[in-house]
Amino acid sequence: MKRMAIIFGSFVLSWIFLAGIQDETPFYIPAKWPKPHYDFTQNPLSKEKFELGRTLFYDPDLSRDSTISCANCHLQYSGFTHIDHSLSHGIDGKIGTRNAPVLINLAWQQFFHWDGGVSSLNKQAINPLTHAKEMDNRLDEVLRRLNQSSFYRNRFYLAFGDSVIETASLLKALASFTVSLVSANSTYDQVKRGESSFTNQEESGYQLFKKYCATCHQEPLFMKNEFKSNGIALVPALNDYGRMGITNRKEDSLLFKIPTLRNVEFSFPYMHDGRYKTLKDVLNHYGNLHEQQPYFSKELKKLNRVLTSNEQKDLIAFLKTLSDQEFLFNPLFKYPKNERNASFQKN
Ligand code: HEC
Ligand code: HEC
Repeated sequence: MKRMAIIFGSFVLSWIFLAGIQDETPFYIPAKWPKPHYDFTQNPLSKEKFELGRTLFYDPDLSRDSTISCANCHLQYSGFTHIDHSLSHGIDGKIGTRNAPVLINLAWQQFFHWDGGVSSLNKQAINPLTHAKEMDNRLDEVLRRLNQSSFYRNRFYLAFGDSVIETASLLKALASFTVSLVSANSTYDQVKRGESSFTNQEESGYQLFKKYCATCHQEPLFMKNEFKSNGIALVPALNDYGRMGITNRKEDSLLFKIPTLRNVEFSFPYMHDGRYKTLKDVLNHYGNLHEQQPYFSKELKKLNRVLTSNEQKDLIAFLKTLSDQEFLFNPLFKYPKNERNASFQKN
């Protein structure tokens, strides 16, 4: 048995195995993309886990008073973020201290949260489940509720071979859903695959993007597993120093995770505290950098001038080519219709 497991384990990460997953769940590795960071050997994907994670993601019963689900703050049509406010809104209308990030291509992400305070997607969900301003529940209470439900006991049995629901399987089920949210069919991707072409304006925007932005928002993911200061100033009321809050190193003052720009057209407001409402506001920021912060990133030093209104228009036209309608409206990521939700509606 043990030897079998070792032999199996050594094959698990092979592309062939990952390719096998593709038929069963929406997760896939787009052609020419780097290897994902997520360790699938720790949580091999399956259709059962994905579907279970999806049901949990949309289930408000995970929160203390059964009102807030993950999807309350992570809405599919905006790339799985919230849109109508800058800081997240949780239980009892409580307002958090950060803007919810998009949940896109998380398999390639090494750090989670704006300050990278969470390093494993398999553990991330503990935070929102127990955060006083998000879902404010206790893990033992979440597990008690789930273990009381014959629907969930059955689904966990199908997914993990055990009808007793534990913290690890709960978190892995949620991660199976969030890790499967792959967005790689935007106009940009179609152009790269030779199926479409940019307009002149998009092409000019792409050239500007490659010159000023792509060192950090790196193709093809438009993110990078690093923390940088992009010139964002401290808001005293929030007192959020980003990465420094985790590492206690002064060099990390006001450094934040470099977010993906995929679907950025729909994921407003922007930055870790949602301070900018529009892409134009963001470009005004990048065209007006003062380098006040001591650890301001050197990559931005070459952008030491205001972006003209035509340059702004071109850049925005390019950023909009990163929108992926197929992802934003993929029925596999929507609120699932199953017995669990049918019983909710009756109550
Ligand atoms: C009240 C709003 C709210 C709820 C509910 C919520 N989140 Fe979030 N989520 C956020 C915020 C805000 C952050 C950023 C936290 C930070 O940077 O400190 C975040 C970050 C994340 C991240 C990290 C993404 C990244 O790129 O760093 C993941 C994954 C995630 N949430 C998944 C979930 C799951 C799964 C649930 C349900 C169990 C959930 N969230 C519930 C607001 C929420
Ligand atoms: C030095 C690295 C770096 C460069 C270069 C850079 N950015 Fe950023 N970008 C960041 C970081 C870090 C953040 C997050 C900052 C925060 O939340 O406070 C960010 C955030 C953003 C956001 C908000 C995304 C969201 O989901 O909230 C947009 C839009 C953006 N950048 C566009 C651009 C454009 C356009 C350029 C080129 C003009 C550019 N960036 C150049 C590092 C960089």
